[in-house]
Amino acid sequence: MPRWWEKAVVYQIYPRSFADSDGDGSGDLQGIRQHLDHLSDLGVDALWMSPICPSPDVDWGYDVSDYTDIHTDFGTLDDFDELVRDAHARGLKVVLDLVPNHTSIEHPWFRQHPERYVWADEIPNNWLSVFGNGAWSRDEETGRYYLHSFFPEQPDLDWGNPDVGPAIGDAMRFWFERGADGFRVDALSRIGKDPALRDDPQATEPPVLPLPDEYARLKHVHSRNYANVEERLAVLRKAAGDKLLVGEVFLPTSELPRYLRHIDLAFAFELMFARWDPEEIARILGEGWRGLAWTLSNHDFSRVASRLGEENVRLAATLTLTLPGPAFVYQGDEIGLRDGPEADPPHDRRGRDAARHAMQWTPDPLGGFTTGTPWLPPIDPEERNVADQRRDPGSLLNLYRELIRLRRDMPLELELLGVDDGVLSYRRGDFTIALNFSGEERPNHFPGAVVLASHPTAPGKVQPYGAVVVAS
Ligand code: GLC
Repeated sequence: MPRWWEKAVVYQIYPRSFADSDGDGSGDLQGIRQHLDHLSDLGVDALWMSPICPSPDVDWGYDVSDYTDIHTDFGTLDDFDELVRDAHARGLKVVLDLVPNHTSIEHPWFRQHPERYVWADEIPNNWLSVFGNGAWSRDEETGRYYLHSFFPEQPDLDWGNPDVGPAIGDAMRFWFERGADGFRVDALSRIGKDPALRDDPQATEPPVLPLPDEYARLKHVHSRNYANVEERLAVLRKAAGDKLLVGEVFLPTSELPRYLRHIDLAFAFELMFARWDPEEIARILGEGWRGLAWTLSNHDFSRVASRLGEENVRLAATLTLTLPGPAFVYQGDEIGLRDGPEADPPHDRRGRDAARHAMQWTPDPLGGFTTGTPWLPPIDPEERNVADQRRDPGSLLNLYRELIRLRRDMPLELELLGVDDGVLSYRRGDFTIALNFSGEERPNHFPGAVVLASHPTAPGKVQPYGAVVVAS
């Protein structure tokens, strides 16, 4: 039976920056509800919201202090129910963010159930936090050390403790009963750890995916992605039943099969960080596509328009949205938002404010995001915003709409045709897609009707940094 996500486009909402309904400067659930038209108009199948649970916001929601409630900045459970009802009425699925590897240090479990966390009397190994420094911090109250893969305010749960899986499963069921259609699962490789807490060995090669320098000195084979991850994934699978689980597994594609035995999808981070080069992208696509969710940006990294350059945003959109399997679109990429400045002082201690600026709905100075003082202001609403792009048939937004409409007709198959003079091409059934990564116009030799062009294009040509879809 086909699953709803097989060809889906999932729109990632960063709730704090999407739409503010009450003028407090922070986006919220009612704001999302008021803008569902935008999602329907784009034609996406689902929305995924970054965490909406209560959190002291050391890591902006990824430090959860209660798995079964709504952050007061975002609203209430009633607001959530209304949002789900309205989204479902439009045929939109609702995907939430599950953070099973760690909680906030302010989660009551940390004091009431300390056995659910990983403790040691002395620092037992060389494990590092990906957010900097060692992965062990001293708890002043007990004098013992606890493990944290991220900030010290995010203690790791001990998935070796028999109560942890069921407690997370209860939280999942809570949201399923309220209508959630699935979870994006945070930092998933981390729930598998060596129970003997052995040292991670020194790295002998540079990492495939980008990692902070100090962290990249080690090969993280004991602190994450350990064999016991499989039994833990099975616990999540059981709690999810046939709902969607898409894993944030920050590993190369070759490491993903053991995850995909249990979860439905995993993000293709290798494509996200690929050198923007057609041969390199062809190589990555040649490794397969089943189980992969395509995406080119999210709330953690530089946005497409800034990372790849504005000249590449149409090419990037055409690539992600013409590959087989689901694609994730980060809010704002559909209008070409760029990275913004860091707040002063920064909101995010890891320097990720840049990709989290307010959505730009209208040309007015606050971009229609809020009537108050935005927590992270819009960057250039006059230059790019949803209202103007909706009216302009040649806008990036309208290219996204066309691509999302067209991809529905493409069968779930991929035949790579190769790279010729900077042009990567592949076939999806009767459709041929040609992507020109070069800065010069190239010929389009493919017979058939051009059903989509990323830019106005002369017959028989593909524009520089442009793409065409041909139907035969
Ligand atoms: C994931 C999230 C990121 C967060 C981290 C720790 O990578 O996407 O925002 O900081 O996990 O939860």
